[in-house]
Amino acid sequence: MRHFYDFGSAAARVGDDLVRPEAWDAVRELPGPFELPASRAEWEAKAETPELRARARDIAAAATRLGARSLCSYGVGNAGLELCVAGAAPHLRLVCTDFTPRTVGRLRSLFPEAEVVEHDLRTDPPRDVDLHLMHRIDAELAGAGWKAVFPRYREPILLVPALLLTWVDAAKEVARRVRKPRSARAGYFRNEEALRDLWAETHEDEPLRIGELDAFLLTRR
Ligand SMILES: C[S@@+](CC[C@H](N)C(=O)[O-])C[C@H]1O[C@@H](n2cnc3c(N)ncnc32)[C@H](O)[C@@H]1O
Repeated sequence: MRHFYDFGSAAARVGDDLVRPEAWDAVRELPGPFELPASRAEWEAKAETPELRARARDIAAAATRLGARSLCSYGVGNAGLELCVAGAAPHLRLVCTDFTPRTVGRLRSLFPEAEVVEHDLRTDPPRDVDLHLMHRIDAELAGAGWKAVFPRYREPILLVPALLLTWVDAAKEVARRVRKPRSARAGYFRNEEALRDLWAETHEDEPLRIGELDAFLLTRR
């Protein structure tokens, strides 16, 4: 189902569709949960949460199990998780990508441990790494978009969904839409079956836990 998000007083800066580079760039400059802070110290403080550290430990363990020496994360946003991955797996060559030019430019100077690259999942080829990480970016593309993306990826993909939609989540989404009719379009939420359908033609999946989240390790059929 379609997902909507209310940016309150910043709604005009974001516009009516969040899933555009300009809109996500604007969101990264707003104070709040999505922000990419201006200084390294503030950025480190924001990323210092037990949840991100636990997810990073599990990602590092999955990379070790697969013998991966390099990892590319797509749609990194403010890259709090990836900073924790760099701490948990300092031996891993880390590439961070997003389609937001301003945020990518700022992140490049904050994050010298990683190679930070502007990259659009829809049009750019996969980066040359042993393991691809897709952390909470499943909502960003429609079904046809993902079905065009997954076949291009040959190495394993660790996919951590933002949400596995339940009937309760769906009811909340509808209620939010009624209460806040001017919310921005913010992609798509899917249940487990709809999610699996996105890669079923080309990939098998192994369910696993990444920190407190359900995740899937996708390997080529
Ligand atoms: C919900 S945020 C998740 C950010 C981060 N992975 C996290 O978990 O906090 C989705 C991210 O995907 C990025 N994104 C959306 N569409 C994209 C595309 N076509 N190519 C690359 N990145 C994209 C957005 O810029 C945004 O940073």
